[in-house]
Amino acid sequence: MKISYYGHACFGIEVGGKHLLIDPFITANPLAAKVDVDTLKADYILLTHGHGDHVMDAERIAKRTGAMIVSNYEIATWYESKGITNVHGMNHGGQRTFEFGTVKFVNAVHSSVLPDGTYGGNPGGFIIRGAERTVYVAGDTALTMDMKLIGDYENLDVAILPIGDNFTMGVSDAVICADFIRCNRVIGMHFDTFPPIEINHAEAVNTFAEGGKELILMEIGGSIEI
Ligand code: NI
Ligand code: MN
Repeated sequence: MKISYYGHACFGIEVGGKHLLIDPFITANPLAAKVDVDTLKADYILLTHGHGDHVMDAERIAKRTGAMIVSNYEIATWYESKGITNVHGMNHGGQRTFEFGTVKFVNAVHSSVLPDGTYGGNPGGFIIRGAERTVYVAGDTALTMDMKLIGDYENLDVAILPIGDNFTMGVSDAVICADFIRCNRVIGMHFDTFPPIEINHAEAVNTFAEGGKELILMEIGGSIEI
């Protein structure tokens, strides 16, 4: 499984020969200026919730690539109303097998409204299981006891967790989350994009290390193989 970072909460995941794109927010993110939204590959676009900093470029990429938009029912339906017919709606606790593996839509504690004010359903995260690797994409969320269920029942190789604080968990809660989900390898997201979520990278990495965990802060445009 190859994971690429496109800034903020946007990741590309290559699994089972397919390209998954999570929460594309590129054109309005100055930190991601070197990422070309019009050449990104996507077979599936997974959206955790309706906020602009997660869905901004989804329509543009879906219309160019024909990628299937996978999200909660309300967001999937909203894209259908915009003429994108290749959508798949889910809801919390539900799992679905796609060509590349399975996706489970799990709880997140946050809010969700679409850019035009349309109700965006409830926010969520995704557990993506390929043939060899499983990744948890938490989406924007607070630390919540529900994460313990993931630790009890999933065998995660890596977790993509928000660490920027203010709108989501901060670093110290993300370390507790890593305990809850029993995953010591964490990729940080949702930090530095806006002033309220700027973090000290060295401090964040140290806080994780003190908790016996690895925090990976990927370079925008960079990739890792897990
Ligand atoms: Ni949000
Ligand atoms: Mn956000």
